[in-house]
Amino acid sequence: MIIKLENLRKVYDTGAIKLEALKGINLSIEEKEYVAIMGASGSGKSTLMNILGCLDGLTSGKYYLDGVDVSSLKDDSLAEIRNKKIGFVFQAFNLLPKLTAMANVELPMMYAGVPKGEREKKAKLALERVGLSHRIYHKPNELSGGQKQRVAIARALVNDPAIILADEPTGNLDSSSSEEIMAIFQDLNSEGVTIVMVTHEEDIAMHTKRAIVFKDGNIISDNLVKDRTILGGQK
Ligand SMILES: Nc1ncnc2c1ncn2[C@@H]1O[C@H](COP(=O)(O)OP(=O)(O)OP(=O)(O)O)[C@@H](O)[C@H]1O
Ligand SMILES: [Mg+2]
Repeated sequence: MIIKLENLRKVYDTGAIKLEALKGINLSIEEKEYVAIMGASGSGKSTLMNILGCLDGLTSGKYYLDGVDVSSLKDDSLAEIRNKKIGFVFQAFNLLPKLTAMANVELPMMYAGVPKGEREKKAKLALERVGLSHRIYHKPNELSGGQKQRVAIARALVNDPAIILADEPTGNLDSSSSEEIMAIFQDLNSEGVTIVMVTHEEDIAMHTKRAIVFKDGNIISDNLVKDRTILGGQK
């Protein structure tokens, strides 16, 4: 089991108001799964992803990532585990504008202290994997939206993470670029990469194998996707 959440709660405390964004989530995700997280705006999807990605802490409950009890870790160890085990893909791509595609993909390896020669080799391979060999020296503003997202996916892949987390990766893309991104995720998943992806769009969720729907900080359904339909009944 790559992800296990036990009674996970997240309360945002902004002084006067305490907002309970996740209200006791129990969830297990196995290795090689491909999961869509759905639900209305404000239902807690990004809150969940940020906790899964070790970008934010939880208020109570347990989070086990690849067998490690993440809930008890301090910031330093969290950053280390995040760099090693997680590849994050954001709606807004989050590339550094002054760096080439190649240099953007090299970044996580710089943090991990990988030597330059190896960094370049791995970055090239990752860009090849997402079909961008012909654009490695382009900067983000010289790339289309779909190409930017492919650079971000290459960056997410480059440390061989245990899991790819994607928060609305097609949210800023037209439908043909979205389909390209879905084709890449499909390939990665068939190569054994675990993927958890937030999406508002049913069409996009249909590419996954399991769809979990959130409402007001709770899971209201968790169903298998087969032949591009969401099968009824609790998983
Ligand atoms: N940093 C924060 N401080 C305080 N409240 C927050 C914070 N981030 C999110 N919230 C609140 O927590 C709730 C869940 O937000 P979250 O961003 O997880 O929703 P979401 O499902 O990702 O929505 P969307 O589909 O619009 O992206 C919302 O009510 C939001 O206002
Ligand atoms: Mg969100």
